[in-house]
Amino acid sequence: MSRKTASRLTLEQNTALLKRYAVLERACMRTLAGWLPGVPEWEAKNLIGLHIWESADASDALRGRLRELRAYHPDRDASPGLSRLIQELDYAQNTAEVLATVYLVVKSALLEAYRAHATRTWEDFDNPTVKIIRERLLDLTEKQVAWAQGFFPEVSGRYPGWEAWRDYIAGLLAADGGVTGTAPPEEAPARPEGHPLLLPWKECQRMPGWPIFNPDEDIQPDREREPEAYRLWRFKHYLNEMTAAETLASILWMTPEMPWEYQHNVARHQWDEIRHSQLGQTRVEQLGLQPSDVPQVVQIYNVMMTLPAVDQYALLTTVIEPNGMPEKAANREHWEQIDDEISAAAVSYDWSDENFHIRWGKKWTPVLLETYGYQETPEEIRARTEAWLLENTPVKMQKKMAQGEF
Ligand SMILES: [Fe+2]
Ligand SMILES: [Fe+2]
Repeated sequence: MSRKTASRLTLEQNTALLKRYAVLERACMRTLAGWLPGVPEWEAKNLIGLHIWESADASDALRGRLRELRAYHPDRDASPGLSRLIQELDYAQNTAEVLATVYLVVKSALLEAYRAHATRTWEDFDNPTVKIIRERLLDLTEKQVAWAQGFFPEVSGRYPGWEAWRDYIAGLLAADGGVTGTAPPEEAPARPEGHPLLLPWKECQRMPGWPIFNPDEDIQPDREREPEAYRLWRFKHYLNEMTAAETLASILWMTPEMPWEYQHNVARHQWDEIRHSQLGQTRVEQLGLQPSDVPQVVQIYNVMMTLPAVDQYALLTTVIEPNGMPEKAANREHWEQIDDEISAAAVSYDWSDENFHIRWGKKWTPVLLETYGYQETPEEIRARTEAWLLENTPVKMQKKMAQGEF
């Protein structure tokens, strides 16, 4: 007896597909997070920071729908082929190889699958899935892919040889039946020569020629006596919150054993720091400077990377961020007093975000300590990393904040 070919996906086929999307979005989040510090191009760094968060949030939306379909562990039973692809994505060697694989292979294929999903599933019965894909994922993914296509010519010439890596990753995806896993599988390609794992980046990268911060030249102008000099100085430090984003991105990459909710939160925390860097960029541009004129505080990322991920997270969220709060309140008051409403608005959103970061720190530091077998209490790691910061930070402002001055 022959069975009629189904016109639409069964619930089980649909769930299997959504799991693959969720796992691939998480993989994009993870590879982009590992690579954020390793990409020197400023525009790409900013956009990758956004896309880490968008990929995390897309994966989270799919996971929510999967729970409704009673699939609770999408990562657990990924096919060996998909697992291999996900691992290999991290082994790119430069910006061109990251963009050519994450965006131009994986995200482009996801986009095609998202576009087709509404006509593959029973739209009338599975409308929550269709709603998530149409109203949330499609638009984001289209924009991500369009950005990468537009930006790629700027980097493709700088990193010759990227095509072999792109073809390899595309071949791995095809060997597992594509994004849907249902296309006729092709033979797995041979791995290109070389390609050691460069993650996690021990030093964050900037374009050659960008000025590097000199701690000895970092003089804080007096807020009351020299308000204009103070404002420029302060927003240059905001622009350098890029290094906080890079720190969080590496932490995210180094802590895959943590619960999904933590990863979703850290991806957002990371993007918030990108946004703080962007508010610095917006303001210094209004004041007549370009990002490439602002000395880059790469030292704070580099010195924090000498610590394990758990220590870095505790230091950032239970020392640096709480210590910074009084200064933000004082700055807002100062800028309101001198009618600088742009600066006051910028710092007020920063302050609001930071409340959440501190809350996440309180929630996740104990779980990190437990997961990675630390014997310390949250208070002990806070005190230890604060003492370490006073010894090791190249940024005088952080030292002053730790000592209660601002
Ligand atoms: Fe921040
Ligand atoms: Fe923060």
